[in-house]
Amino acid sequence: MTSPLRPRRSALYMPGSNQRALEKAKTLDVDCLLLDLEDAVAPDAKQLAREQIVAAVSAGGYGEREVVIRVNGSDTPWGEEDLAAAVKADPDAILVPKVNTPADLQLIAHKLSVLGASDKVRLWAMMETPEAMLNAGAIGACGKDPAVRLSCFVMGTNDLSKETRARLTPGRAAMMPWLMTCVAAARLGGIDILDGVYNAFQDEDGFAAECAQGVDMGMDGKTLIHPKQIGPCHAAFSPSEDEIAWARLINAEFDKPENAQKGAIQVDGKMVERLHAEMGKRVIAIADAIAART
Ligand code: COA
Ligand code: MG
Repeated sequence: MTSPLRPRRSALYMPGSNQRALEKAKTLDVDCLLLDLEDAVAPDAKQLAREQIVAAVSAGGYGEREVVIRVNGSDTPWGEEDLAAAVKADPDAILVPKVNTPADLQLIAHKLSVLGASDKVRLWAMMETPEAMLNAGAIGACGKDPAVRLSCFVMGTNDLSKETRARLTPGRAAMMPWLMTCVAAARLGGIDILDGVYNAFQDEDGFAAECAQGVDMGMDGKTLIHPKQIGPCHAAFSPSEDEIAWARLINAEFDKPENAQKGAIQVDGKMVERLHAEMGKRVIAIADAIAART
């Protein structure tokens, strides 16, 4: 199912236990907020984090930012209470960690309806286990089933590195097959996909390079760990002026009466097909959606 176009260039994680961060989020120019109850929160702070997130999300004040709560897995002591609390808070989406199979998502979706979650609440899936990499197509295909509510994949590259022992090196050669498989799986299901985090948040050049790589791979955006990563992330994931101008130009060319019957034309020395014009329309739609929010 294709959802309305919503920019998801940036998604900033913040620990639910960090009240200051939950407050600061209201002032940050970020597309999505990932309010975390899972890995960023120590076991003895889980309860506090849950209460703070429910209070913050219920109170609102996050404007157009897409508010997403990451719960603990169903196989942990906190999973069930997290899910109930998240439903009560009524966020835009609930991010499910360590999804392994379509059945994992189907079960959570079932629990959401039992808990009386409102229709707007979507499911996002962390793709971060070896099993998920091998089941990516089937998990992505859940995007076609409205009952599952799936609308986005989030790459969990740190967990993936831990579980597979593949290293996160500059260029991410070892991760590429999984990342691209997940891009294909997301497209199969008609959902978005966000790239993993870049841990060395003081390394601006390394971060910019990884953002550019994510754009080339077809990622819709990137998950972030620190506010200073938002600006460079938006610079990378927003269509450039040149891209927008090119998209407008090729669409204008195809709109000319003399090209009405043509499938391929020449523009500025390049072969352009109607599929390129379609791609261009998407670039323009994203640029318009970004302009509408800022
Ligand atoms: N969300 C919102 N605000 C954040 C933030 C985040 N993820 N990370 C830092 N900030 C805020 C700080 O509160 C601080 O605000 P202030 O100046 O108003 O006090 C400001 O940004 C500067 O923070 P800084 O001192 O540079 O960082 P730090 O040492 O306080 O925190 C981390 C560093 C890595 C612990 C922190 O960025 C963090 O918790 N990131 C998210 C981790 C996470 O959620 N991981 C799970 C998924 S991978
Ligand atoms: Mg993880």
